[in-house]
Amino acid sequence: MLGDKKVLYSGMQATGNLTLGNYLGALKNWVNLNEEYECFFGVMDLHSITVRQNPAEFRKRAKSLLALYIAAGLDPEKNCIYYQSHVSAHAELGWILDCFTYMGELNRMTQFKDKSAKHADNVNAGLFTYPALMAADILLYQADYVPVGRDQQQHLEITRDIAERVNAIYEGVFTIPEGYYGKRGAKIMSLQDPTKKMSKSDENPNGSIYLMDDPDTIVRKIKRAVTDSDNSIRYSEDKPGVSNLLDIYSAATGKSIQESEKDFEGKGYGDFKLGVAESVVDVLKPLQDNYNRIINDKAYLEEIIKKNDDKARYVANKTLRKLRKKMGFTDIPR
Ligand code: TRP
Repeated sequence: MLGDKKVLYSGMQATGNLTLGNYLGALKNWVNLNEEYECFFGVMDLHSITVRQNPAEFRKRAKSLLALYIAAGLDPEKNCIYYQSHVSAHAELGWILDCFTYMGELNRMTQFKDKSAKHADNVNAGLFTYPALMAADILLYQADYVPVGRDQQQHLEITRDIAERVNAIYEGVFTIPEGYYGKRGAKIMSLQDPTKKMSKSDENPNGSIYLMDDPDTIVRKIKRAVTDSDNSIRYSEDKPGVSNLLDIYSAATGKSIQESEKDFEGKGYGDFKLGVAESVVDVLKPLQDNYNRIINDKAYLEEIIKKNDDKARYVANKTLRKLRKKMGFTDIPR
């Protein structure tokens, strides 16, 4: 609890270009959570360096993610939107939690196995201890809830295990977080392989719609989306391509799947794809307009960053001080 509200914490890595999947599946659903919860949304730039980054591009991406949070409708006066690397408590608690995390546990993480296969030339210790840093993110803010997709559930589980382990020795340091399953975001799949999640790290750019894609690109990518040959527009497990497009349309318009099927009754795949593309253009247009305005307003962004970094630091340092004291670290003279 912070004040009279429960705390909700989430964030995204500042790597790659965000996709429609990130937006419809996560970001869009974070808007207005601040009415019920005290919300923190981090730009997870410390996590990004487990993979080598080009400095200029990295700086641009991180800023762009922050601007996108705001463009998507997260009010930076009501939510704490900040850079993870601006709050040194993350790295400090990350180290402490490394000492409460077992190699065996980390070895079981499927994301570590996937990522070390993908970056076989750079399997660094940070990639291995990534979950302990993520635990630090969540626990610093005493989060009650963490909205996470399926791919991050294992990381939330290990966070809970670590928190319980620490609490068993140093009573009452951390709140034990739970997954947030309020309004589940849509799970958007790749346009080229609808059995795989749409991913910002996909090598094939035609599989993903990026949030900054222009209307022509969106239409072209959706026209090329993999479907099937039976030419009927219905939601079904054996029609992953068509079902994915229906999911996209439904999430973009706010209509149910049934209503979405109805909208295309008697139509062919050509019209269907055009309709889906239009719905995506419509949902991204205001986001892109907002983004372009915000990213060019340097003074505004700077002010937001300062204010929110301060707020994050205040809350995070409070937790860190409490733990330091219980563990027996010497007080830092003021
Ligand atoms: N690991 C998350 C991802 O790749 C990003 C992340 C880092 C995160 N720290 C977090 C998400 C804390 C939620 C809470 O998507």
